[in-house]
Amino acid sequence: MPSSSKPKQSTFADDVLNGLSAMPKFLSSKYFYDDEGSRLFQEIMKLPEYYLTRAEFEIFSEQTREIFSAFNAGDSAFDLIELGAGDGTKTAVLIDYFLKQLANFTYMPVDISAEAQNALAENFRAKFPDLSIQIQTGDYFQILGNLQSNNGRRKIILFLGSNIGNFRQEQAVSFFKSLRAVMNENDLLFIGFDLQKDPRVILKAYDDAQGITAAFNLNLLKRINRELGGNFDLENFSHYAIYRPTECAARSFLISRKEQTVRIEALNKSFDFEAWEPIFMEISQKYNLKMIEDLATQSGFSVKQNFFDSRNYYTDSLYKPVL
Ligand SMILES: C[S@@+](CC[C@H](N)C(=O)[O-])C[C@H]1O[C@@H](n2cnc3c(N)ncnc32)[C@H](O)[C@@H]1O
Repeated sequence: MPSSSKPKQSTFADDVLNGLSAMPKFLSSKYFYDDEGSRLFQEIMKLPEYYLTRAEFEIFSEQTREIFSAFNAGDSAFDLIELGAGDGTKTAVLIDYFLKQLANFTYMPVDISAEAQNALAENFRAKFPDLSIQIQTGDYFQILGNLQSNNGRRKIILFLGSNIGNFRQEQAVSFFKSLRAVMNENDLLFIGFDLQKDPRVILKAYDDAQGITAAFNLNLLKRINRELGGNFDLENFSHYAIYRPTECAARSFLISRKEQTVRIEALNKSFDFEAWEPIFMEISQKYNLKMIEDLATQSGFSVKQNFFDSRNYYTDSLYKPVL
């Protein structure tokens, strides 16, 4: 869980035990991204229903020069630190432009998924042979302390892909406060927020017709089977997504289709499921501009600039530290 003090490192086994022992049961979405999960997420990003990636890609492609200028990226050397970088496709657009402008920077992608980091490294080294790149594989909550280093360079931190939407409000504030604590006056934080819109459009993004999002969620049960010796029968669970307009958030669940018991050897424990009992998998919060400003204020930032796509579906918001 996000926290401003250095959190204890929990393991996959700890978190599964914790989540499946809770009422209601839950699993942490940070474990979605094993090899297969990263591959499925790449498919999700290409789905016609998943507007988020296209909207953010449009912002990066159409407003590259404005972003470069808002970052003051031509002024002095900086570290471009990306938290939860994934395959880095959108960031590649910025990097291409920054290199052409002869900006002096090192790109530092951080991701918990070794598979995603390997793919990114291979792709970026081929595409940008001149790029200075330092890859860190790990949990971004754990590497925050490393960011404190005073190497005299500015930090521009990227947190894209509406990743912040997977945090509850108090977690988001706590996470941004811990980022603020390692940032200096001229550092910047650039965040991708999915905006509120027709709930039908949002819901489809989490419940696509081809069932890729369902496979993505069910893959976490497969991962528990493989890595922790579980015996989940995937046929006995189904993916279910809702959008609640009162809280402006989509939520996804895996629903137990019958009464059943699942054994997980590494935990030396069995878990009982009632028929139709849910496992809560992920929240995807949708924002309006007031929420984005409030989040900045509560965590020690102000909004320097917002960049929107042509449909106002999405915004990348540039936060600067308040002194
Ligand atoms: C929704 S994807 C977004 C990927 C990319 N930023 C984009 O916009 O396409 C989330 C990424 O964050 C990574 N991630 C999730 N939780 C993480 C954590 N606690 N520490 C580091 N990486 C994490 C996942 O492995 C995944 O690659």
